[in-house]
Amino acid sequence: MSPSRDSIELQAISAYTKHFGVPPRAVASAPGRVNLIGEHTDYNDGYVLPGAIDRATAVAVGPRDDDRLVMNPGSAQDASFSLSRLYPSERRAWTDYLTGVASLLQVRGNPLCGANMFVYGNVPRGAGLSSSAALELATAFALIELNGLTIPPVETARLCQQAEHEFAGVKCGIMDQFISCLGRKNHAMLLDCRSLVYEHVPIPPGVELVVCDTGVKRALAGSEYNRRREECNTGVRILSSKLPGIAALRDVSPDQLHDLQGLLDPVVRRRCMHVVTENDRVVRSVRALRAGDLAEFGKLMYDSHLSLRRDYEVSCPELDMIVDLCAGADGVYGARMTGAGFGGCAICLVKEGFAEGVIARLNAGYHGKSGEKATVYICSIDDGARARGIPQ
Ligand code: GLA
Repeated sequence: MSPSRDSIELQAISAYTKHFGVPPRAVASAPGRVNLIGEHTDYNDGYVLPGAIDRATAVAVGPRDDDRLVMNPGSAQDASFSLSRLYPSERRAWTDYLTGVASLLQVRGNPLCGANMFVYGNVPRGAGLSSSAALELATAFALIELNGLTIPPVETARLCQQAEHEFAGVKCGIMDQFISCLGRKNHAMLLDCRSLVYEHVPIPPGVELVVCDTGVKRALAGSEYNRRREECNTGVRILSSKLPGIAALRDVSPDQLHDLQGLLDPVVRRRCMHVVTENDRVVRSVRALRAGDLAEFGKLMYDSHLSLRRDYEVSCPELDMIVDLCAGADGVYGARMTGAGFGGCAICLVKEGFAEGVIARLNAGYHGKSGEKATVYICSIDDGARARGIPQ
């Protein structure tokens, strides 16, 4: 069992109190996420089906008299910045997510007071579970609470996405920040990434979600990710010569792409094929989930993985090995990589009572190319970001 959200927040509060000598004024926390299906569709204006997980980052916060943001003193992550001089660091650092959020809050017209902060959490970093979105959202909620600001949650999610673009250099879509902000316990979220209209879809009873971390760090993720985005844009540019109304791959149907594929070079064609079929799979998988048809949902997960492996080329041998091991285990509905890919985690949807068997099989059968061990656990779907003041 992972520690509860309450206990993560309490850890941040007690570390804050220990290091700053007074209790914090507020605490906020935000979860990581898994994506059940709908991968690399968000920046193509498409559909996604993520869920927030029971791993979170908490930020305890209190005011300062000067204009500084002081973070995690007395730890290896010790850092301090002036609120009037917040820039992305030259060599990417974890603080970029915090300073990015603080900077953009100010740019959007929200004056901030100086703040002491202590960050504590248990979302694994670099594992494709959106530890960065969790940190951004927890920071945003903490600063909003401390400064008495009123910002609608959707706007907060977009601000955090912008922080990731401008301060971390990854041109991510909106999925991670949105689900970390607005997730709901025991529900997946169907999000239309164009309109930002969303719906919480209940996870049927009797299933468990196993997360398996390959231990492969996603070194190439940033540059390859941005390249995939460009390839999709190239596809849209070329296809729009025959389909003038389209603004994104979201607007292209599998049949249309099939008819026009001759226009595209093989790489761009495969990228487009993934996105267009994946959007269709999300719509079908939500239908299956609502009907309680987990066998169909699981089949769509496998199809999604294959498409990410062959057409989008963002899987890796370790992720494929996990999916294959899951496919051969009892009680498994489906499995796939989750998140951007190039390492990170795979997820497996399992009939209740069978998760331990799957975990044992993965622990015994998995070995990364460079000797990595799998980290495997059962995950539950949790609520999105929250903040509260602390009585002084
Ligand atoms: C990362 C990005 C998301 C999304 C996924 C792939 O997690 O942050 O916006 O594009 O990859 O689905």
